[in-house]
Amino acid sequence: MIKITDFFTKEPRTYTELNESLNISSEEYHKKILENKMDSHTQIKDAPLFSRRLEIFIKQFFFDRGNKTIILDCGCGLGLIGMELEKYKNFEVFLSEPSESIKKIIDTIYPNKKFLPFPIEKIPKEFNNFFDVIYLREVYPFTRSNDISLHTELIKMLNEKLKKNGILIFEQIKNSEDLFDNLEKLKIIYKKFYLLPVRCFNFRWFHKIYFNIDFLSSLTKLAYKLSNKKINHYIVVKKY
Ligand SMILES: C[S@@+](CC[C@H](N)C(=O)[O-])C[C@H]1O[C@@H](n2cnc3c(N)ncnc32)[C@H](O)[C@@H]1O
Repeated sequence: MIKITDFFTKEPRTYTELNESLNISSEEYHKKILENKMDSHTQIKDAPLFSRRLEIFIKQFFFDRGNKTIILDCGCGLGLIGMELEKYKNFEVFLSEPSESIKKIIDTIYPNKKFLPFPIEKIPKEFNNFFDVIYLREVYPFTRSNDISLHTELIKMLNEKLKKNGILIFEQIKNSEDLFDNLEKLKIIYKKFYLLPVRCFNFRWFHKIYFNIDFLSSLTKLAYKLSNKKINHYIVVKKY
């Protein structure tokens, strides 16, 4: 079986580069973050767009009657999607990420964020039954492997962190080996949503209609298939 640590002991190169620039000065860091390829492993410029779509999706499918919705952006990279999400009313957002460089960056630049410097398997027990929603965008153990034992273990651990009625939301495209290969084999209740590119039709009214009409999602899938492009998905998994 692949070891869970295989996916984060060698952190993405851009995280190391960002931290190195921060070691020089905060001005260097802020210059570096704007460079073109800095968002190849974590969302930077488009983070507000990803978070807007996610906010609408969560409010549509998971609404906890006036109570705060507690969300974990798990394997968050720089955490900018989670930080944007936190700006919406009634959301309380935690971030988690195992990269050492990201820990240093968040401790220095965003010291007030609720940041858990852990991989999934090390999130402390005090967070059991704690989150309403755990969001995982392109998190490596689910996008770079189709090892079913690994997925079973990790989903079990994530499940323990969810409150009753909580949900996991995976956002990812299909790779050669990934979670999609195991969805039918894992004993979970799940639903897939097909997503348009995040820069297209990113309007509140549009998402509200889109997420309510399954036909539109299937139409998107067909359009992608015809154009031979990779489609993005939400995979929503219910707490079991
Ligand atoms: C492609 S990045 C996505 C980052 C972020 N979710 C985003 O979309 O901006 C994949 C992330 O998975 C994280 N990761 C790898 N193994 C992990 C684990 N066991 N638990 C949590 N995160 C992990 C990596 O450190 C990396 O930040």
